[in-house]
Amino acid sequence: QEDIFKKLVAHCKEYGYVFQSSEIYDGLGAVYDYGQNGVELKNNIKKYWWDSMVKLHENVVGIDSAIFMHPTIWKASGHVDAFNDPLIDNKDSKKRYRADVLIEDQIAKFEGKIEKEVTKATKRFGESFDKAQFLETNPRVLANQEKIDVLHKRFADALNANDLEEIRQIILDYKIVCPISGTSNWTDVRQFNLMFSTEMGSTAEGANTVFLRPETAQGIFVNYLNVQKTGRMKLPFGIAQIGKAFRNEIVARQFIFRMREFEQMEMQFFVKPGTELDWFGKWKETRMSWHKALGFGEDNYRFHEHEKLAHYANAAVDVEYRFPFGFKEVEGIHSRTDFDLKQHQEYSGKKIQYFDPELGESYVPYVVETSIGVDRMFLQVMAASYCEEEVTSANGKVDKRVVLRLPAPLAPIKLAVMPLVKKDGLPEKAREIIDSMKFDFNCQYDEKDSIGKRYRRQDAIGTPFCVTVDHQSLEDNTVTIRYRDTMEQERIAIDKLKQMISDNISF
Ligand code: GAP
Repeated sequence: QEDIFKKLVAHCKEYGYVFQSSEIYDGLGAVYDYGQNGVELKNNIKKYWWDSMVKLHENVVGIDSAIFMHPTIWKASGHVDAFNDPLIDNKDSKKRYRADVLIEDQIAKFEGKIEKEVTKATKRFGESFDKAQFLETNPRVLANQEKIDVLHKRFADALNANDLEEIRQIILDYKIVCPISGTSNWTDVRQFNLMFSTEMGSTAEGANTVFLRPETAQGIFVNYLNVQKTGRMKLPFGIAQIGKAFRNEIVARQFIFRMREFEQMEMQFFVKPGTELDWFGKWKETRMSWHKALGFGEDNYRFHEHEKLAHYANAAVDVEYRFPFGFKEVEGIHSRTDFDLKQHQEYSGKKIQYFDPELGESYVPYVVETSIGVDRMFLQVMAASYCEEEVTSANGKVDKRVVLRLPAPLAPIKLAVMPLVKKDGLPEKAREIIDSMKFDFNCQYDEKDSIGKRYRRQDAIGTPFCVTVDHQSLEDNTVTIRYRDTMEQERIAIDKLKQMISDNISF
């Protein structure tokens, strides 16, 4: 699985999805650029989210707030004082680690042992294997599950009590070693603030320290009144936003899973106090359905209840996906109470409330938040789509193909048009087809190499449809269409092509 992940990272580069930032200068840690295909996939993911949140919900509207905000906002939100991670340095490798990431890795090891037992049992019992029952009764599985539960609880308790010595003790007790030096020669645990800061204004007028936002959510909170009033919004209603966020993450790991500059898609849903846990439950289900609708397999998703609630939350859950390196968070759903609005009310001195016409009184709304990283979702989609398979050609030769089984609505290029030969008017006919469709979806013209090679190249990019223009096309206006997933081919009239593809690329 780790091997597959390495191949996926290489594939992302080779096919123009993701590049290391500043690569010709040897890169910049945990910062990445998106290439010609990556930017299209990223935009399609954002559209899938925006359409489902804003377009389909009458009571959810969007905004786009600035990255720079008044510095007091981060005092009010608690980020200046509490957006910290416990860190530990390894004295031998001189590398610094986030304690929660070390613990996560340890838990992943126990989970890996459980997976191994399941794989063994699946091989032994075949079809008749009842996985659920096995997980509940097998002694080795249960022993590892207990280890996970004990470690979770101990770490959560230490975090809640802000007991840094206990966190260090856990790392020592579990004999966790530095992945670089292989030793457990650790320093004490310290707290470290994850916000980036910079100076705003010239020195003459007196510069102000401003922060690069570590979440987009605060831009929504401070615009609550603006949107509620100008949009004449009635509770419950939501405000959605997609935008960049920045965190000085200590460990650069797992490619675009944890970055220092990333993008978030967040939605704050404002509700009447007392109804927040109902709404939390509803959004939890809605968001899980959104993920599962992509068709990557129900078993690959699970909820993970938080062992430590953030300072603002009274309920929190993660949607996790089974990445090649284990189940990991893709999205967080949090019931944030009235913490943020109350804080901004206090720090700004402005009344931030809602007048409830039914009750005839004003109150500070409660908030349920859904928060997902665009880049992490991108990685999830790529990991779920990347596939290596053996194919047998007509002459019986077994060949390997790498195919990105991207859901067609997310694919960067929907249609590749290929003239069989570079003469006899076939390229012109191919361009004509592209010209008639390029306003509706992304098409790519491809005339280099054999048709077989061109198909493989489009498979690797994830293009769901390829058409080949041949001499017959000039006579009867038909082309051969080839489907990425089944590799089946059939003849189709050119004037039916646009409708057929359009039907397949919308959710
Ligand atoms: N407003 C709440 C909030 O920011 P979070 O759990 O810290 O909550 C939400 O972040 C989501 O943002 C995560 O589930 C993840 O998808 C994404 N995310 C957070 N930190 C990230 C990072 N360093 N790199 C990439 N994505 C990140």
